[in-house]
Amino acid sequence: MKPSDSVSTDAQFWAAIRRDQFLLDPEVVFLQGGSVGPSPRPVVDTITKGIRDFDSDPLKHQPLYRPIVEKAREKLAKFVGTSAERVALVQNTTMAMSVPAQGLTWEEGDEILTSDQEYGAVRACWDYIAKRYKVKINRVELPLKIESAEQIVDTFKAGFTDRTRAMVFGHVYWSTGLATPIKELTELGRERGAWVIIDGAHAVGMVPLNLDDVHPHFYCSSLHKWILSAKGTGMLYVSEDVYDHVEPLILGGNVRQEGNNASRFDMMGTRDQTPFMGLGAAIDFQNEIGWDRVRAYSQGLAGYLKERLKRFKGLRLLTPADPELSGFITTFGIDGVDLAPIRQELWDDEKIETSAFKVQDLSVMRISTHFYNSREDIDRMISEIEKRL
Ligand SMILES: Cc1ncc(COP(=O)(O)O)c(C=O)c1O
Repeated sequence: MKPSDSVSTDAQFWAAIRRDQFLLDPEVVFLQGGSVGPSPRPVVDTITKGIRDFDSDPLKHQPLYRPIVEKAREKLAKFVGTSAERVALVQNTTMAMSVPAQGLTWEEGDEILTSDQEYGAVRACWDYIAKRYKVKINRVELPLKIESAEQIVDTFKAGFTDRTRAMVFGHVYWSTGLATPIKELTELGRERGAWVIIDGAHAVGMVPLNLDDVHPHFYCSSLHKWILSAKGTGMLYVSEDVYDHVEPLILGGNVRQEGNNASRFDMMGTRDQTPFMGLGAAIDFQNEIGWDRVRAYSQGLAGYLKERLKRFKGLRLLTPADPELSGFITTFGIDGVDLAPIRQELWDDEKIETSAFKVQDLSVMRISTHFYNSREDIDRMISEIEKRL
């Protein structure tokens, strides 16, 4: 069975999930979950109930919520293949990435190895550090046509020098949907004595993850994309061998903690706990469906989309066809076509939500497909693009 065959066999099951478990406007074709995903009802209900209960008696509820958040941390840790002690709860990837950037020590002349395709905020973060500490950014060019995992490893390998102190790279690239071999890249970075800092904004809930097996120094993610958690829930994985070298961003009660415990890097002080209560509900929701089933279906949709795109003459598919090197993001260009105005029309006229931008001067459209999408969503989008070519 090809991965795309699984779509038709259980299409009704997924249609019912979309109808009954999401608040999504039935008229909207939402193919933009790579930016922010729609939380399913159990998440929204947990958060809204949490806020209502809390405000009925704040001081009573404050201590009651903490254990629920800690439970969510445990569920998340299990989901990403590590233990709760290695997981800090932060708001998003931006905040997680700021911990190694601001918390490690940099010296003039150090080099940070990264790629030309990192996300804007991540690039800005490291450019800031480079300017502040006179550190050099060594940006390798990731080829647009990737055919093997070795090609990615070799590209980064070529960027190392004896001054490289850190390696910052994406797990799933926001631009092309490329999924990188993080275990091999981590081994490379560790062998060369560099801090390995992974931007996994898109990976949690999209590709299988066993962080203890990969064992980077830092792994950052946003959980409001593919895990469909509350907006402003993110994580930072911190390996046991970095605690003596990295300072927390925010200094509060948790810094008194003895020993290695990533909660030292949590957001601290009084804050709304309900988004992280919603995180627990989001993980339960996907586990109840069965994450392998979610992945098979969403991967199948991406496969179906790649097939359907072949009808466009001059197609430039930037996402690798190999499911080992890609996930639920599919990015394509069409020779000679500016896709930005088409994206705007798809939204204005058809309520089809997609994303368009440029990758190395090529105008591209990025399509995110998750389990609340269907083949019909893809067919509608393809036919509306076709009308405008
Ligand atoms: C690859 C990548 N890294 C980092 C970020 C930043 O995520 P956040 O805004 O949740 O901090 C994004 C956001 O889309 C992203 O796509």
